[in-house]
Amino acid sequence: MRTTVGIIGAGPAGLLLARLLHNAGIDSVVLETRDRAYVEQRQRAGILEQGTVDVLREAGAAARMDREGIPHDGIELRFDRRRHRVDFPARTGGRSVMVYAQTEVCKDLIALQLAAGGPLLFEAEALAVEGAGTEQPRVRFRHQGREDVLECDYVVGCDGSWGVARKAVPADVSRVFERTYPFGWLGILADVPPSHDELVYARHDRGFALLSMRSPTVTRAYLQVPADTDAADWGDEEIWDELDRRLETDDAWTLKRGPITAKSVTPMRSQVHEPMRHGRVFLAGDAAHIVPPTGAKGLNLAVGDVVTFARALVELRDTGSDARLEVYSATCLRRVWQAERFSYAMTTMLHRAPGATPFDDRIQLAQLDRITTARSAEADLAESYTGFPLD
Ligand code: APR
Ligand code: PHB
Repeated sequence: MRTTVGIIGAGPAGLLLARLLHNAGIDSVVLETRDRAYVEQRQRAGILEQGTVDVLREAGAAARMDREGIPHDGIELRFDRRRHRVDFPARTGGRSVMVYAQTEVCKDLIALQLAAGGPLLFEAEALAVEGAGTEQPRVRFRHQGREDVLECDYVVGCDGSWGVARKAVPADVSRVFERTYPFGWLGILADVPPSHDELVYARHDRGFALLSMRSPTVTRAYLQVPADTDAADWGDEEIWDELDRRLETDDAWTLKRGPITAKSVTPMRSQVHEPMRHGRVFLAGDAAHIVPPTGAKGLNLAVGDVVTFARALVELRDTGSDARLEVYSATCLRRVWQAERFSYAMTTMLHRAPGATPFDDRIQLAQLDRITTARSAEADLAESYTGFPLD
């Protein structure tokens, strides 16, 4: 099998890249190890930055998002029984975000790719990427019990945090930067309307809580829990009681409870693999970097990477200049580290680490107080949350 761009992984990074290349008249093949149902059901975060919304619209992949997505102009910070709303458009010159689940983005992109696009092979596991330093890198893969080879001009590893593509970057030029947090998030889906019309990020002495949503009738919520927690150890009423405590306010706000339909624990880590390119093999999305979910940046960073790659390849084709492709890794890493910085800052400001001292608690409260009283601090949060424009 032969193609211009071999794409490993059909998460948001691989699927959107295939779409962008198809729209630009560049052919690709996507290899995905899982089956379609698995990819379409995987629960992930659901915040699309303004830049991501714009890219999906330009790519012709936003019809359902524009019908069903919920635009949000702010978030609420909750601490010390107080509530503070951060108004995004007012602090950023008009930027906001969209609540639309990542699984839905994937479903939309898969449907488009299968209807009009290059091959998208499910249950096709990439085994190794070879020849990164040559003009014809190859992906060895297994599909329907048979081993095959995909010959490419470029390979883009969009194969997530456990993928094989990053092994194509030799150990002596590769560096990994990481931090593992001593807590995770217990996430639930519940058949009950959201208790607030915007997302609520709460700092509490008992730990962090987040109130989110999937639709006008479905609540998504998270609780900070110890890293080794088994979701099955938490009973439904226990989860609601704990959310109630951590989201407490001085006013008459109440939490709506309903049947919990899914429960899982997500570990929290920050990780960056540098560089994001070796020869003709490029890394994009979770294959190159992981952020803790507190900043809602994972999907948005993946989008930034593949937009940068697609634009660079189009420039090479149209002008003969590989200048943008040459700086792919540096361009992406600058944005990645800004997202790492923001995700780390949100995580450490809002979670209670095991062994946290009363001094640490006061510092967190002072940070939150600063955001609620200094316009510049609030604007910094709003700008980082809604995302900086893609270059
Ligand atoms: N061969 C083929 N496919 C593979 C292989 C392999 N060897 N290894 C992994 N994959 C597939 C996975 O099954 C998955 O579908 O690659 C895909 C990677 O997708 P994601 O994990 O969704 O990563 P990405 O597209 O970079 O999206 C980033 O996902 O993890 C979240 O928070 C993160 O929102 C962010 C987004
Ligand atoms: C979600 O709705 O799943 C969600 C929202 C915001 C986050 C993380 C997850 O920061």
